[in-house]
Amino acid sequence: MILPYAEPYKIKMVEPMYPSRRIDREQWIKEARFNLFNLKSHQVFIDLLTDSGTGAMSQEQWGAMMTGDESYAGSHSFEMLKDTITSMTGFPYILPTHQGRAAENVLFSVMVRAGDVVPGNSHFDTTKGHIEFRKATAFDCTIDAAGDTANHHPFKGNLDMGKLENVFQVYGRERIPMIIVTITCNTNGGQPVSMENLKEVRSFADRYGIPVIFDAARFAENAYFIKNREKAYKRHSIRQIVKEMFSLADGMTMSSKKDGIVNMGGFIALNDETLYRQATTFNIMFEGYITYGGMSGRDMAALARGLEEGTTFEYLESRIKQVHYLGGLLRDRGIPVQEPFGGHAIFVEAGKFLPLVPREEFVAQTLALELYLESGVRAVEIGTLLADRDPETRENRYPRLEMVRLAIPRRVYTRNHMDYVAAALSNVFERRQAITRGYRILYEAPLMRHFTIELEKMP
Ligand code: F0G
Repeated sequence: MILPYAEPYKIKMVEPMYPSRRIDREQWIKEARFNLFNLKSHQVFIDLLTDSGTGAMSQEQWGAMMTGDESYAGSHSFEMLKDTITSMTGFPYILPTHQGRAAENVLFSVMVRAGDVVPGNSHFDTTKGHIEFRKATAFDCTIDAAGDTANHHPFKGNLDMGKLENVFQVYGRERIPMIIVTITCNTNGGQPVSMENLKEVRSFADRYGIPVIFDAARFAENAYFIKNREKAYKRHSIRQIVKEMFSLADGMTMSSKKDGIVNMGGFIALNDETLYRQATTFNIMFEGYITYGGMSGRDMAALARGLEEGTTFEYLESRIKQVHYLGGLLRDRGIPVQEPFGGHAIFVEAGKFLPLVPREEFVAQTLALELYLESGVRAVEIGTLLADRDPETRENRYPRLEMVRLAIPRRVYTRNHMDYVAAALSNVFERRQAITRGYRILYEAPLMRHFTIELEKMP
């Protein structure tokens, strides 16, 4: 018998969870104005809102916390972190920030101007937010296969080189400050970008003399997929693949809360000294001095260790197999999910799941709310609410796919929890014909509305 995969860690400390009754959840979600972000954590049983900052640290990481150096300048913990990042990525210049969007804020303060166009593969919402806040435009060049959940393309995060070329033809090199490649591509399902595609983007960028920046929050998961799905890399170690990936970029922004397996943190890493020097001014203004940038010494120490652990094959295999286990259960029950399964989450296609709910009534949010009411499982909408309004026309932007994301925190939940989630979603699936109406907006913020939106149920 082939031995099944098993987690390469065991549990030393536990945290209570909060089962609840449907009648209570109905009350709580009404009080939360049907916004899942407004729920208190004790009103949630299994929390799949995000895999960001929700992972479990190892005993070595907790040990490192005790030896963190809290010196304002020249902290030893910073040196450790810097050495780890440089040896892993090859980038010599490192600026810590308090999280990923802060890294975007600092770097884009240098690089993005009003009227610019920033092409990439389905930019994450904070990335797009920081671009649009500067009156620039994020241009999505993801391959078309990403828009079809049943298409089994192994690298649905890839950029379409034709679309990229077209952006350069239409807007011209002068208006394009960089190309951003998000690895893995969160917005369309945690989908990886192939090494082949990263190489194509690199040589394209070289032709125009333009920097390539990776949004690298889930770079280790991307490396795992390259190892598993790209023949030439089958025998490479994760660390070799990581090094080669980053050799194809000029720099990166990082949310350390994902593949760094820490609860808070981020950084910028760069090749170019001039760009680094320009960014340091903004880092000092917005984040903190250049050797801490919004992180305490102990957090930098835990991150250095987390990056090491997060790039081991054994860890990544159990992490991604857990996500795929959940995906397999849902698929086997006929639930429409983005395939192949991505790295950090399973994306359920709400438009197909609830075909009777009109798009204008936020079908993905409707499904996420039904799942919560059914079971106390909290997921997140990746649909029209997240896509926000067009900054010029103020019309709703309807994305290609209306999705509900079940993001799996790292090293936190067990297989029984996955079984529970699958059963809960199956129950909603069984009664899908009875779900015909969604929600309407009572309040929304002008930018990134989904976090604070308030809704009411359609009669
Ligand atoms: N880039 C990507 C690809 C992300 O997924 C995120 C965050 C960020 C940048 C911003 O990083 O949160 O540290 O400021 N994603 C979280 C999520 C919030 O739930 O997917 P941050």
